[in-house]
Amino acid sequence: SAQAQAAANRFPFTPIDIQTDFDVHVPEGYNWKVLARWGDALMPEAEGYDITEGGPVAGSDMVFGENTDGMETFTFRGHQLIAINHEYTNRGTNLPAGQDGTPANADDVRKLQNLQGVTVMEVRESDNGWSIVTDSPFNRRIHHNTPMKIVGPAAGHDLLKTEADPTGTESLGTFNNCGSGKTPWGTYLTCEENFNGYFGSTEEAQDQKPNALVDGYARYGIGADGWGYDYHKWDARFDTSKNPNEPHRAGWVVEIDPTDPTSTPVKHTGLGRFKHENAEVVLAPDGRVVVYMGDDERGEFLYRFVSNGTYQPGGSTEGLLDDGTLYVAKFNDDQTGEWLALTPETTGMGAADILIFARMAGSAVGATTMDRPEWISANPHAVEAYCCLTNNRNRGVKPNAGGDDTPVNGPNPRETNHYGQIVRWKPHNDDHAADTFDWDLYVMAGNPTVYDNIYGGSSNITPGNMFNSPDGMAFDSNGLVWIQTDGDDDNEGDFEGMGNNQMLVGDPVTGEIARFLTGPNGSEVTGLAWSADRRSMFVGIQHPGGSWPDGEGLPRSSVIVVKRDDNGVVG
Ligand code: FEO
Ligand code: CA
Ligand code: CA
Ligand code: CA
Repeated sequence: SAQAQAAANRFPFTPIDIQTDFDVHVPEGYNWKVLARWGDALMPEAEGYDITEGGPVAGSDMVFGENTDGMETFTFRGHQLIAINHEYTNRGTNLPAGQDGTPANADDVRKLQNLQGVTVMEVRESDNGWSIVTDSPFNRRIHHNTPMKIVGPAAGHDLLKTEADPTGTESLGTFNNCGSGKTPWGTYLTCEENFNGYFGSTEEAQDQKPNALVDGYARYGIGADGWGYDYHKWDARFDTSKNPNEPHRAGWVVEIDPTDPTSTPVKHTGLGRFKHENAEVVLAPDGRVVVYMGDDERGEFLYRFVSNGTYQPGGSTEGLLDDGTLYVAKFNDDQTGEWLALTPETTGMGAADILIFARMAGSAVGATTMDRPEWISANPHAVEAYCCLTNNRNRGVKPNAGGDDTPVNGPNPRETNHYGQIVRWKPHNDDHAADTFDWDLYVMAGNPTVYDNIYGGSSNITPGNMFNSPDGMAFDSNGLVWIQTDGDDDNEGDFEGMGNNQMLVGDPVTGEIARFLTGPNGSEVTGLAWSADRRSMFVGIQHPGGSWPDGEGLPRSSVIVVKRDDNGVVG
């Protein structure tokens, strides 16, 4: 019976079926509620912000932004805080109808800039459930114009200097904040992913730039047109013909102190510049700080940073995310692997150039090209880490010029990879700072009802738990791994029987995987964190379709709270 099945493994619920509707579903015995939607007030002055027509520019920097993504919880002096990313905007939704998602003036651009970035908010649970504490002094919006500090080995480099900031140490804004991380000292890490899409040029010819810039623009996909935000037409900072170094000030990991609303966010150049997914921070046995990071683009790499200094609780954290060595992963076909140090000796590049153009440094040492590294999460109960390799639908077709060839290889074994896989590695000597590891695939997603070959997935994939495009991922404190998907949800052809995007939970020891939640059609499920008492699980629903969650009007990306009906611990 289903109950016997639930009891036979570590999952305290009966797995749910797929869904194709515009709603959220959780197992029997659990419930969910909306906590925060795009446009909800974070401050009393923003009460009544009206998103019916996409929302006005006035107040757009005081409301919960759009398209929630990476999320972490913090407890400070009894306050439950959430720091959460707003990755991008659905321009067709939040610009006036009839503009086809195209900004018509500087106000439109300013509104888009305001609705992205990061929210820090206090939340509180009452008899009616969780809600935002709108008059909390901790509430804060960090957006595309918020002052930032640039620190670390590349700070002040010529490639980071602009007319407005001749020091190369003070920039504005954080961009395309995708995944997240949390430091042992209680700060939030927000990771800049597809920053290239915000830049464009009002002059056609990009080839008038010095060669170093041309190569860097090509490898990072910085073109003349951008991705439709059209910032460069209304805000000269984003016009690369006028400010050619501005794109070098994006693509970093940014540290935010959620407990101090007056603090200036810090861009850490020591962690390298690429299209960051998340930043998973662990400590080596000797106290050095290890940060695992993926670069989410076809054929790009997995990175690791190891600090020189060690973390001492209560001690100085200065330099722990900057003074150290950046590495890229090389996966051998015999299921061993090594971290290759990116140094002037190994790459032939200058120390700052290695960080600003980390992708080229990775190519120089022969890193393994990957099927789009998304979230990395480390098991708190074993010295191992997992990375979602979401998919690769165009192997061999390089997204940007200058990338490496992308043959099938050990952890990326399928020619056309519609489904994705999760690779995990166990560092030698149980030390995340060790330079060698063993790896295997925790799961290869697939569709066993359509294929009886490698596209049917690994043995822990069944018709009852199948999914595609693993993306978000987080271990809970019990050592179970939660997997969120961002894939094809048309439920047809190769994806028949997979339904909407979903969240599953896996047992790292047995390999078992069970479906826990399904999102509304059109959405991806991304972002996961727990309340301090672990009785509430916060889950992000990005780019939903239909009129979710209000049932009428525009769809609104939201954070939901999942609880057990008996208020027991979740996960
Ligand atoms: Fe923003 Fe790679 O997901
Ligand atoms: Ca993602
Ligand atoms: Ca994705
Ligand atoms: Ca997304």
